Amino acid sequence: MGDESRSKCRAVCFISGNGTNLQAIIDNINDKALQIDLISVISDNPKAKGLDRAEKEGINTKIIDDSSFQNRKDFDECFEKEMIALNPDLIILAGYMKILSRSFCLRFTGRILNIHPSLLPKYKGLNTHQRVIDDQEELHGASVHFVTPELDDGPVIIQYQFNIENHDDRHSLQEKVQRGEYIIYSKAIQWFSEDRLSFESEKLCLDGAPLSEPRIIKKS
Ligand code: GAR
Repeated sequence: MGDESRSKCRAVCFISGNGTNLQAIIDNINDKALQIDLISVISDNPKAKGLDRAEKEGINTKIIDDSSFQNRKDFDECFEKEMIALNPDLIILAGYMKILSRSFCLRFTGRILNIHPSLLPKYKGLNTHQRVIDDQEELHGASVHFVTPELDDGPVIIQYQFNIENHDDRHSLQEKVQRGEYIIYSKAIQWFSEDRLSFESEKLCLDGAPLSEPRIIKKS
């Protein structure tokens, strides 16, 4: 999908909060560093700041809030139907804090990317920065991976890594991780949009070759 004659990758972004990763993606699209068509931003949280960021850019937004459903099953079904109707090439999870249903993950396997604030497979789940400090880790960072039904478990494509310094706390770690996230997420999305990156039949490939280890970008 890289060259101009081909149609652009139609992407949808899911958010739950601040949306700084979404903003970085929008900025890269505007700077032409990222050639995707961001057709919609969907939030489970009506108050997500990321919704304002999208609206400011004229991007279609939608709130799918689970509290307005009778139960989780109805919410999951509505969400899946919505995506089937939109049929995006790519679903970008950018700080989306709801766990996607198994059915959803299987239906869109190879089309969902997530950014996670740790060096996966370490520190899946929440509160990663504090857990890294508590464990006196030396390295920290962020990972972009394809989404599979198991939480934060899909194959890792690219990581941003840096050394933790003595004075770091969870706030400084969060800031450093996020700075790296903005770099690696757009890189992975661009690879996908150029058909360079795929996850099919459980095989992760970049540029036509299996990717057995994630690409690493170190903080300069
Ligand atoms: C990001 O740091 C992202 O890695 C994390 O939420 C933050 C969202 O920030 N995602 C997860 O923890 C998912 N498990 P943002 O809303 O400013 O982009």
